[in-house]
Amino acid sequence: MAGPERMPDLSRNIVLIGPMGSGKSTVGAALARRMGRPHVDTDHFFVARHGSIAEYFVQRGESAFRAEEERVVAELLDAPRPSVISLGGGSVLSSRTREALAEQLVVMLDLTEQQAAQRLGDGSSRPVLGDDPVTAWRRIYAEREALYRECADVVVEPAEGTIDQRVDTIVRALRAVH
Ligand code: S3P
Repeated sequence: MAGPERMPDLSRNIVLIGPMGSGKSTVGAALARRMGRPHVDTDHFFVARHGSIAEYFVQRGESAFRAEEERVVAELLDAPRPSVISLGGGSVLSSRTREALAEQLVVMLDLTEQQAAQRLGDGSSRPVLGDDPVTAWRRIYAEREALYRECADVVVEPAEGTIDQRVDTIVRALRAVH
């Protein structure tokens, strides 16, 4: 017998996930303004606490970064009031984070490889991209796409348009699943 239908609840956090370059930070900030909620960004929080992510990778390595990222995400998901929370693109690699996301309202922002190529620039602020950012982005996208989709209540397909138009799309999609 099928279990009870899962009803997303707008009193929960809205969490934005998705590949690098998908606009989680900028769209998250605009969505938060629109919804009158606080916005938090796990990468910004990480940087405020530890300094640059690129430097952290050099000094401590990726596995130390992932362990600390998992702690930061857990801390921020425990927000005192419903917030819009933008996660770093690799956060979904953590099974603990994926479990925590099951309790949240999760929006995946998708983008095409062409959009990624335009937005990533030389990739220097994102150490996982190395010195061939588009090739690395394509490989990482293929590795993670299923995880993003598994965690998401709503998938926002790649679209051109302004930030406000993307926020409109998300608000409509959230209403549809609410
Ligand atoms: C990463 C994505 C970055 C940042 C770090 C690692 C990743 O965040 O957390 O450089 O592994 O996808 P954005 O998705 O905000 O670029």
